[in-house]
Amino acid sequence: MPTIDAHKPCDFTIYGVMGDLSRRKLMPALYQLERAGRLHPDTHIIGVARHELGRRDFQARMYEALQSFVGQPLDHEAAQRLLDRLHYVLIDLQAPDQYSRLAEIVDQQRRVLINYFSVAAFLFDDICRGLEQADLVTPETRVVLEKPIGRDLASSQEINDIVARVFAEEQVYRIDHYLGKETVMNLIALRFANSIFTTNWDHNTIDHVQITVAEEVGIEGRWGYFDKAGQLRDMVQNHLMQILALVAMEPPVNLQADSLRNEKLKVLKALRPITPDNLDDKVVRGQYGPGFIEGRPVRGYVEEEGGNPNSTTETFVAIRVDIDNWRWADVPFYLRTGKAMATKRSEVVIIFKRLPHNIFVDSYRNLPPNKLIIRLQPDEGVDVEMLNKIPGIGEGIRLQRTMLDLSFCEAFSGERIADAYERLILEIMHGEQALFIHRDEVELSWTWIDSIQNAWARSNEAPKKYPAGSWGPVASVALLARDGREWEE
Ligand code: BG6
Repeated sequence: MPTIDAHKPCDFTIYGVMGDLSRRKLMPALYQLERAGRLHPDTHIIGVARHELGRRDFQARMYEALQSFVGQPLDHEAAQRLLDRLHYVLIDLQAPDQYSRLAEIVDQQRRVLINYFSVAAFLFDDICRGLEQADLVTPETRVVLEKPIGRDLASSQEINDIVARVFAEEQVYRIDHYLGKETVMNLIALRFANSIFTTNWDHNTIDHVQITVAEEVGIEGRWGYFDKAGQLRDMVQNHLMQILALVAMEPPVNLQADSLRNEKLKVLKALRPITPDNLDDKVVRGQYGPGFIEGRPVRGYVEEEGGNPNSTTETFVAIRVDIDNWRWADVPFYLRTGKAMATKRSEVVIIFKRLPHNIFVDSYRNLPPNKLIIRLQPDEGVDVEMLNKIPGIGEGIRLQRTMLDLSFCEAFSGERIADAYERLILEIMHGEQALFIHRDEVELSWTWIDSIQNAWARSNEAPKKYPAGSWGPVASVALLARDGREWEE
């Protein structure tokens, strides 16, 4: 058996346990933790929902979820150990008196109560009240919040206030699952463990930065939720802004939650707001129309099941972000993210400045800049694009672009890359907050996102169409071309 981490045992309670997130992500992650021997022997997992189910039926449903979503043949012993930890409590989340049923099976003397709110935010108030009424809130109790936390600054403050009435900030774990991804964490290692980057990471050497999070999937079955949110709220407000903050932040004094979060906050504070005056120069909003992905015909966004033909919700955004601080003066960060794009690809590309003088004009009239390409997913790794001499005699020095390629899969072969939720659940069980979002971060990022939403609301322009399976609207190419630059393809 693998070793067991020395955290305290928990009553890990999932509200909305029959939902998609729980079945697709949380149960498979708990299974992997179980398999690796990382769950305390006395940890219980408690599912809460409204279905009339006995414990055995619940275990059978969760077993089905493991079979469908673990993505590899099940280790039956590990699956059985996990099932043995499962308990089920029937609660109508809006009925505060029913939470006493939970009080009957948790044991706060021996185990830490972790409340994972895998439900829509409008239920957070009811759950908090129910927990309070059942006397289940102690200073040790933790609460885990899933996105979306609001749809703008005001609604996010409302949600955070509701939770803050019952739980102190140190008890709250706000999830952005990108912070649980191996490669996103590696951004910190890459930047602060390698001296070549500590001295070459600012406006003196970097020309600009590109952050792309492209998804091949369209909206498929999530139209109702997505149409009210749009890509800006769904992806930029959280995932892209977190990546941006990690790439742009100053070195933290250590890896503790406060140190990391404070440095990220400084970046978010320095973002230049988008206004109706600079909107057109800085933001491109797109919506996919019909097209082809991997040779298959794909419907456009408004033609998807449940779609409204008049929707102006964006499924693509590209933004030029300016960070008004000393390190990043005149170094734009270009963000782009979209659904139904040519391929699934997330990466950060650092484009260094060109050299001041070219002595290799016979090879290149303009020497291309070096690039550092950090591949977040899939095919995780790091590439450095450099120029080298082509071997040979009698022809002077002829250059060719070459890639120094560090593929994680090859460099760390044999290491399974854990899913984000495995890491995040473990951190919550250990009481470590560094990979979770502080309330101040949520609010600052909404403040900036609101500046874009407000500017959009004042312009009547509809999103630009792009064919499904492409890299977004032509205007996204123009966004960089205006600055004499181009997207890394
Ligand atoms: C979620 C968004 O937060 O992230 C989804 O709500 C999106 O719309 C998903 O598809 C992408 O996550 P990943 O891990 O597949 O990149």
